[in-house]
Amino acid sequence: MTASHQPVILAIESSCDETSAAVWRNGGVASNVTATQDVHRQYGGVVPELASRVHQQHIVPVVHQAVSQAGLKLDDVDAVAVTVGPGLIGSLLVGISFAKGLALALNKTLICVNHMQAHVAAHYIDHQPVFPFLCLTVSGGHTQLVVVNDFMQMEIIGQTLDDAAGEAFDKAAKLLGLSYPGGPMVDWHAQRGEALFQFPEPQIPGYDFSFSGLKTAFLYFVQDKLKRDPSFLKTNMDNVCASIQQRIVTILLNKLKQAANDRNIKHVALAGGVSANSGLRKGFEALGKKEGWTTYIPKFEYCTDNAAMIAAAAFYMYEKKQFAQLDATPHVRMPF
Ligand code: KG4
Ligand code: ZN
Repeated sequence: MTASHQPVILAIESSCDETSAAVWRNGGVASNVTATQDVHRQYGGVVPELASRVHQQHIVPVVHQAVSQAGLKLDDVDAVAVTVGPGLIGSLLVGISFAKGLALALNKTLICVNHMQAHVAAHYIDHQPVFPFLCLTVSGGHTQLVVVNDFMQMEIIGQTLDDAAGEAFDKAAKLLGLSYPGGPMVDWHAQRGEALFQFPEPQIPGYDFSFSGLKTAFLYFVQDKLKRDPSFLKTNMDNVCASIQQRIVTILLNKLKQAANDRNIKHVALAGGVSANSGLRKGFEALGKKEGWTTYIPKFEYCTDNAAMIAAAAFYMYEKKQFAQLDATPHVRMPF
């Protein structure tokens, strides 16, 4: 590779139930291919053992499609990047084993990427937030408030003590009998309803979050309403969804506002699967306007799990020569 040549990076993401591959070329995304796993729908949640088996079926065609859509051959790649954690152990193993095999066979550099840092790096794909910026990363397994000082220099200043925001959406949806994944279903109903019902806001010190109390309050609320009126959910589904969504959103945004004020940060971002939520996006933009923030949200396809964000993170790791060895192992939990 010459000094002026930008690295070509093949990135692979398989931490949960999406098998994704992307090619990063000329400083941007040349392809981004994602195969979803419908098998979990009938179980109402991701079944880890099934997820790893489906990753095995998807990974070869997904990688081939990403490389050919970019108009390249495997040998044109300078580095192979892969999600190393956090995630499901079996799912991570499929991606990592494949990436290591490919790097070894092609004699290419291996880069191991933290999935949560990559959600933040989704911001580097199409726009460039001003450093330092504050990012609220909300996914199915994590809720984090992150101060981003430089591309891959990130500090977690707050996180959930129990359930993640996406989990809160998914568990509420399950209780309401909505299909998996529940977050988008709650969002769909919420857009048609009004937040008529009140749920408690947890009083957690600092920048940490908690959603388990809300989950319990919601369970008792639904049980109580159904006892009085068995058709309650049939007639009130939209309003119930609007109410629980509004509470989840206000819990997130109140902490975000507190942290931005305390740290005097005016550049504020959303990332992760839950940032696809219409109520959160609207609330975030409205709050940003009121507070005088410059706000950033990744494109819809870069909010939920995808390999383009792994490629973006890997690009900045490549610049700093943060390479991995072939004995790299997956991490179910992974600090920054
Ligand atoms: O980041 P992500 O794709 O995967 C993880 O890393 O976990 O996030 C998935 C989560 C799920 O909990 C899903 O229900 C939630 O994001 N989600 C939503 C919406 N779209 C995805 N939650 C609420 N409203 C949405 N529109
Ligand atoms: Zn994710």
